[in-house]
Amino acid sequence: MRRPLVATAVAMALTVPLLAAPPALADRYDPGSTSGGDPYFPAAGNGGYDVSHYDLGLSYDPATGRLDGTAVISLTATADLDSFSLDLRRLTATSVLVDGKRATFEQLPPDGSGLGGELVVRTRPKLKAGSTHTVTVVYGGVPGRPVDSGGELYGFVSTPDGALVASEPEGAATWFPVNDVPTDKATYDFRITVPEGKTAIANGEPVGTPTTTGGRTTFVWRASDPMASYLATASIGDYTTTTSTGPHGLPIIDFVERDLTAAARAQTLASLALQPRMITFFEGIYGPYPFTSYGSIVDDDGVGYALETQTRPVYSRTASETTVAHELAHQWVGNSVTLEQWRDIWLNEGFATYSQWLWTESRGGATVQQRFDTVYRTAATSTLWSVPPGDPGAADLFARSTYDRGAAALQALRVEIGDPAFFAVLRAWTTENADGNVTTADFVALSERISGQQLDAFFQAWIYAPVKPTSW
Ligand code: TRP
Ligand code: ZN
Repeated sequence: MRRPLVATAVAMALTVPLLAAPPALADRYDPGSTSGGDPYFPAAGNGGYDVSHYDLGLSYDPATGRLDGTAVISLTATADLDSFSLDLRRLTATSVLVDGKRATFEQLPPDGSGLGGELVVRTRPKLKAGSTHTVTVVYGGVPGRPVDSGGELYGFVSTPDGALVASEPEGAATWFPVNDVPTDKATYDFRITVPEGKTAIANGEPVGTPTTTGGRTTFVWRASDPMASYLATASIGDYTTTTSTGPHGLPIIDFVERDLTAAARAQTLASLALQPRMITFFEGIYGPYPFTSYGSIVDDDGVGYALETQTRPVYSRTASETTVAHELAHQWVGNSVTLEQWRDIWLNEGFATYSQWLWTESRGGATVQQRFDTVYRTAATSTLWSVPPGDPGAADLFARSTYDRGAAALQALRVEIGDPAFFAVLRAWTTENADGNVTTADFVALSERISGQQLDAFFQAWIYAPVKPTSW
């Protein structure tokens, strides 16, 4: 009885706008927005509530590519709501409970770009601003191999032996119902069931030991530090597990695919062995490691890039030393201190790239100034200069500019304000904004406060101008 009802609701949503009926004048309850308000990704995120915790029960079958889930979401209404939405893409919800009671819901299709997708829930009784609720969504489907607006694989990417999950910037909706904006950080519990013999890895630490019944094994993970949805992972494959200890007893758990090529395995293991020393090095710059554990996931298939998934980055096919340094540095710059809007992506990538340059220099490789000089020699006609790192556009989010010009901007700032002020800025940035969200304006204000210099023209030239900086 329930399935046909859902199918009808979905079909109706295609033709009848759900929220079209004008509200009665006396009714102060409003529908929560289906947009989180980021101009780069207007379909991502939602309005009217704030999530504090996701409890994700997932079951995945690599043979069919089918993912089934039950998400229990703890949220607080931030407005009086008669409906609200969650992002959920190409997966079908079969039941929604609000505070344990069945709720009416509809799924709106993706927007014209093929992205987006909303699960709209009507709430009876309505939700009052400030009240907290539990929303349970049962859902499932075949995520396949989703691609982002730049054409890159992302989200829940099925691989021959499992899945690689890397959701930046708004791909979390390919595997769970979510308020998919970087500002709505939450804690997470994961319960992932896979065929016996497979390993399922998420953020944070394992809870208990995996349990097997009827040929299926369940892995439980808990991420107890606030985390942006794009940094969640639930990767599945044939991994070997290595545990070690970082500074101050920090648990490090690494997962490396069993059948990497011999060369990839050798390079990967050599890079991962440096993680404890790298953590100590970055603690010297940014302050204490911000989370409760660390470690890496190296898959034999891949998405073509690495991602700094919180506490446990994912790598495609191999992990080089510089990439490991880059993803580790992101734990401070990107994950603990997170951008507020995607246009500020250089606050993630420029900083992680600069950190990687510092690490390389500390190992006797190229100096940071040499790296700057190389970037600065790039011809004025290059897209490195026409794409501003402080507003690259959604399709150029991961263009060279946000990485290399962003990092070069930091080196130029260091020369401008001197080493003591510059490193004080970096340290204050990560300690004052820990677990928070930031904008470029925040970084400009901090740099000016600590250096005592007026830096508007500097940041205009390095971060916003669509031309090569020649004077600043
Ligand atoms: N943020 C990742 C990193 O630099 C990279 C990344 C995410 C990426 N999505 C991408 C790179 C798409 C290229 C294309 O660590
Ligand atoms: Zn990065």
